[in-house]
Amino acid sequence: MTDCGSSIYNCNVMELSKIHNPSGNITIVQSDSDLPFRVKRVYYLYDVPGGSERGGHAHKALQQLIVAASGSFDVILDDGFMKKTVHLNRPNYGLMVVPGIWREIINFSSGAICLVLASERYDPSDYIRNYQEFIELKKQLNVS
Ligand code: TYD
Repeated sequence: MTDCGSSIYNCNVMELSKIHNPSGNITIVQSDSDLPFRVKRVYYLYDVPGGSERGGHAHKALQQLIVAASGSFDVILDDGFMKKTVHLNRPNYGLMVVPGIWREIINFSSGAICLVLASERYDPSDYIRNYQEFIELKKQLNVS
């Protein structure tokens, strides 16, 4: 739970590799060298209907890199004290989201693919899904 005392300033957009090729570019992300964690899980959101909002939770320990593999969307990051919105629209940029950050993903463009590289396998007990509970936890960590 100590990981949760994070701030939105710990969440940054990283430029990823890009091998240019007239017949199509390629981006490579390797565990440990390109990321501050080892990837244990990959998932992607797609066919998101216009106006849908995803996320709406924080993680206790999970680290993630979020990439707009196609199209675009906005990620709203909230550490309980400050918020920032990051627009992702290029497949060679990724947003690092550390534990203890409430995130919402909105404004999906048509055909958008939200690719997530995650540091842990799926674990429902790693989620904080109640915003009030999240705010209480962040307040406790900030004063302790
Ligand atoms: P959730 O993480 O809440 O999605 P989002 O934050 O994108 O809105 O997950 C949605 C559903 O999918 C939920 O029932 C849990 C399930 N799920 C898994 O079973 N495994 C996974 O790795 C993920 C990411 C979700």
